[in-house]
Amino acid sequence: MKAIRGATTVAADTPEEIRGAVKELLEEIVKRNGLQEEDILCILFSNTSDIHSLYPAKAAREAGFTHAALYSSLEPEIDGALPLCLRALLFAECAKAEHVYLRGAANLRKDLKKFSVALDGPSGSGKSTVAKLLAASFHILYLDTGAMYRACALKAVKEKLTNITEEAVKPLMDGLDLKIEYRDGTQHTILDGEDVSEAIRRPEVSMAASNISALRCVREKMVEMQRQIAKEQSCVLDGRDIGTHVLPDAEFKFYVTATSAVRAKRRYDELKAKGYSVDLSELQKEIEERDRNDSTREFSPLRKAEDAVLVDTSEMTIEEVLAFIRKKIQEKV
Ligand code: DC
Repeated sequence: MKAIRGATTVAADTPEEIRGAVKELLEEIVKRNGLQEEDILCILFSNTSDIHSLYPAKAAREAGFTHAALYSSLEPEIDGALPLCLRALLFAECAKAEHVYLRGAANLRKDLKKFSVALDGPSGSGKSTVAKLLAASFHILYLDTGAMYRACALKAVKEKLTNITEEAVKPLMDGLDLKIEYRDGTQHTILDGEDVSEAIRRPEVSMAASNISALRCVREKMVEMQRQIAKEQSCVLDGRDIGTHVLPDAEFKFYVTATSAVRAKRRYDELKAKGYSVDLSELQKEIEERDRNDSTREFSPLRKAEDAVLVDTSEMTIEEVLAFIRKKIQEKV
């Protein structure tokens, strides 16, 4: 018999959230450990004291885990504990235990880190959509590194800095208050205590991000943060220099690209859907200028790592790209 550990988090203390999180956690434990219903003898749950709207054991019963003996308990309040967290300890007949930590709970078991995925490529290649779906499908962390450069650019815009040079930007970087937080698995970019996740997507921030990201003082600071986040858990990072510079030892590297016309059309559709009025040919020109900027800069330019797999998405759907990349990873893990 083996004891299998698992943990997950909920976005809020509601019965629906708890039901969803418990079901997802148990199904993942069953899948990863190849369990049959009769293999599971009992499941013990515990949860932090900010969760009380539904017993996890009841959620497990509702999810169809009726064969095993179930038990729930409350954890003592511990200062600094991961909030809204649910833990499971499952006793089962199996050869070896694979522990499962989902959503923000992966933070609790950094020793279980298995692999990093580097997804690089120009903007509009579809890499961030794929990266997000890929991370969700493996229940691992997604870090959008472009959001971090965008936040630096937003800071410069807010400070009305027009002179984007090392000298002018360095003091801004020294005093930068940037945090990446995850709420229910979704990345939030917090600048000076304010959630700027939406504001950094504004079109004028895109070009500013490309300019500011060329500076050494900006890159050094962001890369250090990225490595710190990636060190601790299995993750997917997307950007321009992940495979070449940030995580040169990443287990999986992909370079995702598409023609500039296709990329401009994708960005056009995306911005239009958000209510921005944009001109397609202007967008294509801007994308090509950003490509030039990003790939000709001195520090960590946009470039395919030698050991990265090239994925041209011009004629592929997101689902096809995702399936291709997932298959490559699953062949090895
Ligand atoms: O992926 P994105 O469009 O959100 O990125 C915004 C800008 O940030 C992009 O023009 C290049 C830069 N960037 C970078 O230099 N390195 C990264 N790892 C990610 C983004």
